Amino acid sequence: MLIPHIQIQDLNVWYNREQALKNISASIPASEITAVIGPSGCGKTTLLRCLNRLLEEGEDIQISGQIWLDGVDIYDRGVDVTEIRTRVGMLAPKPYPLPMSIYENVAYGRRIHGLNKVLNKGNGRNLDHYVERFLTAAGLWEEVKDRLWSPASRLSTGQQQRLCLARALAVEPEVLLCDEPTSALDPISAQGIEEQLKSLKQKTTIVLVTHLLRQARRLADHVIFLWMGELVETGPACEVLNDPKDDRTRAYLAGDIG
Ligand SMILES: Nc1ncnc2c1ncn2[C@@H]1O[C@H](COP(=O)(O)OP(=O)(O)OP(=O)(O)O)[C@@H](O)[C@H]1O
Ligand SMILES: [Mg+2]
Repeated sequence: MLIPHIQIQDLNVWYNREQALKNISASIPASEITAVIGPSGCGKTTLLRCLNRLLEEGEDIQISGQIWLDGVDIYDRGVDVTEIRTRVGMLAPKPYPLPMSIYENVAYGRRIHGLNKVLNKGNGRNLDHYVERFLTAAGLWEEVKDRLWSPASRLSTGQQQRLCLARALAVEPEVLLCDEPTSALDPISAQGIEEQLKSLKQKTTIVLVTHLLRQARRLADHVIFLWMGELVETGPACEVLNDPKDDRTRAYLAGDIG
């Protein structure tokens, strides 16, 4: 039996009274890659942003339903949002390295979350170890080990995205949310990110929003198919992608919609 890491229950989201997500219930299995697919505007990013409370209720945004992370509803009052965002990390479509060195980009998250409190007071070596570990996990170490103190902005876009992956991994999230993480990358860099995601899933539950069906086929163990804010179909990737039950899934996979 698969263990759900995240359980979404009756999730609804409205932007200015326009309903973007309609009664979504789904499981995100632990230590697997779940691909969220569907046509543009169907609510993929909205769903992803709910999973670490990047989307918060406000004047223009209403949210109802529950999202259980290991048995705790992350939208409950009293839940520490910073802790949720440490446990559930995010990789954006485009790399946004911080205006600091390669080393500092990776070290930053650990420092602000108090994981490595003081640099140069006995913890420096420790931090070096983590910087190497997460740059290696992101597949970037070999390329940057001799220029760790040069500005991150000098890296290529593909390298910057791997640096952002290293930065996201540096706080050791249980879940990593990736919103079209290869959309700004050339094919070789995209392949690099795909390989890293595959090797990370043993330890980290991954939710991957992608509009690339071939990417979903290469990476996904589990699929959520959204269509106009509704969850049309969800299940093991081999079932949803090869033998869809719903006509809308079939049409999307055939390239007739989206
Ligand atoms: N901040 C916002 N304010 C108002 N409407 C929004 C906002 N963000 C998203 N929407 C609307 O909600 C719907 C879902 O948007 P969302 O970005 O989740 O779609 P998506 O599936 O990620 O699309 P894409 O594939 O183009 O990235 C769309 O109709 C969009 O216009
Ligand atoms: Mg989107």
